[in-house]
Amino acid sequence: MKSLKAFSIFLVTAGSLLFASTAFAGGPEVFTAEKCNKCHSVASAGIPAAKKPMQRDLSTVGVSHDAAWLAKYIKGEVGLPDKKDPTKEKMHKGKFKASDADLGTLTAWLATQKTPAPTPAPEEPDEE
Ligand code: HEC
Repeated sequence: MKSLKAFSIFLVTAGSLLFASTAFAGGPEVFTAEKCNKCHSVASAGIPAAKKPMQRDLSTVGVSHDAAWLAKYIKGEVGLPDKKDPTKEKMHKGKFKASDADLGTLTAWLATQKTPAPTPAPEEPDEE
């Protein structure tokens, strides 16, 4: 009986940990979990782009777009105006596969990104 009790305590603990990690996943976590950082940095929030550095930094994306537009854009329902051909829209390249709840968290956070990052910080040498 002792082991059963221990096992159920384990289940409860594991369950609450799992719950906690989904409940507290914020914009930055969704951003990296959905691999947006493959192509984007958010320098103001300290998120570097994983591959090509600063391909398109989203530090000030909240200045020109609100959360509702961002959600549509990221789902591929609207595009950015095409500067060369005003009759066309440029759709986003990335694909978003996570839940609507995650999309909400992500776009609410992105919409608050309004602070230009200081000049891209050069790789700082380790002090130690
Ligand atoms: C495969 C590379 C790639 C991935 C992955 C990607 N993006 Fe993009 N994203 C782009 C490119 C390229 C543009 C610029 C498009 C243009 O100018 O038409 C862009 C533009 C944007 C813009 C508009 C920026 C502006 O200044 O108007 C937002 C917002 C954005 N991406 C968010 C995201 C989010 C959120 C994710 C993750 C779900 C993501 N992107 C994943 C390549 C990517």
